[in-house]
Amino acid sequence: MDLTEYINRRKQQVDTALDQLVPGAHKPPQRLNQAIRHSLIDGGKRLRPILLLACAEAVGSATDKLLPFACALECIHTYSLIHDDLPAMDDDDLRRGRPTCHKAYDEATAILAGDGLLTFAFELAARPIEGVPASASLAMVVQLAQDAGIHGMVGGQMMDMQAEDRPVELAELQSIHIRKTGALIRASCLAGARLGGGEEQQVQKLKRYGEAIGLAFQIADDILDIVGDTALLGKSTGQDQQHAKATYPALMGLSQAREEADSMVSEALRCLEDFSEAADPLRALARYITDRTH
Ligand code: IPE
Ligand code: IPE
Ligand code: MG
Ligand code: MG
Ligand code: MG
Repeated sequence: MDLTEYINRRKQQVDTALDQLVPGAHKPPQRLNQAIRHSLIDGGKRLRPILLLACAEAVGSATDKLLPFACALECIHTYSLIHDDLPAMDDDDLRRGRPTCHKAYDEATAILAGDGLLTFAFELAARPIEGVPASASLAMVVQLAQDAGIHGMVGGQMMDMQAEDRPVELAELQSIHIRKTGALIRASCLAGARLGGGEEQQVQKLKRYGEAIGLAFQIADDILDIVGDTALLGKSTGQDQQHAKATYPALMGLSQAREEADSMVSEALRCLEDFSEAADPLRALARYITDRTH
């Protein structure tokens, strides 16, 4: 299968839906809506919504009805990037090939743009979905809140900040990465499988797939911070070393970090063994996690 064509097609769907769903730039408060759009629209790989749609496809579901939930994931992810880039956190000036939200606007606006995206995400996630019982939909909203929150992404971001400038062991580093990045990626896969009506065994396999590629994705992000190209990545490189971040390459060197990421990808592929060719996009996406240049 042609992964580039697949990603482009899915990305187009997600981009169109996001543009339609989020408030227009001329809607008040205009500065807030403009800042949100600055960070959200026409940027990013849209990996999390694409994974949701591909997991739904793998269990034989229609995907259009899941677009609002898929967009909710992208809103949460984008909020996390806006806040991650703030001077109090990673202090970055470039994101998705543009000035970061607080650079293009100001810190207060960036904080509020993030807050606005996070809350709007739950408005989208809570929308009724055709053919999905309200109880199942509600359970997924709760799951999303957990994975994006204290025990997931937000908790991981706290641990990431607290691990700067000191030695960490592999077990701690792994738990940081699983939370700060892995949890939302796993939630994306789980949501696609569950809301797509997958059988319980398929759902568990896709959840584990998401867990494995989620960790691989952050390891690859750590590697790209060292070997990547700013023009392709759309964000500055060398930041992790400058902030003495706990990363896989810092702990074990580049080649072992690559091996760790590759073994996670292999594990993800094993989770797909019982799936038909409907899971081919997921197979290709798993390989892309470590092959990507941005
Ligand atoms: C970057 O995520 C931050 C991490 C969680 C590693 P992405 O690499 O998915 O960023 P975009 O969405 O493509 O900009
Ligand atoms: C961010 O990890 C994870 C988030 C939850 C935003 P990084 O701090 O490594 O992400 P980049 O490298 O700035 O995109
Ligand atoms: Mg960070
Ligand atoms: Mg960062
Ligand atoms: Mg990074």
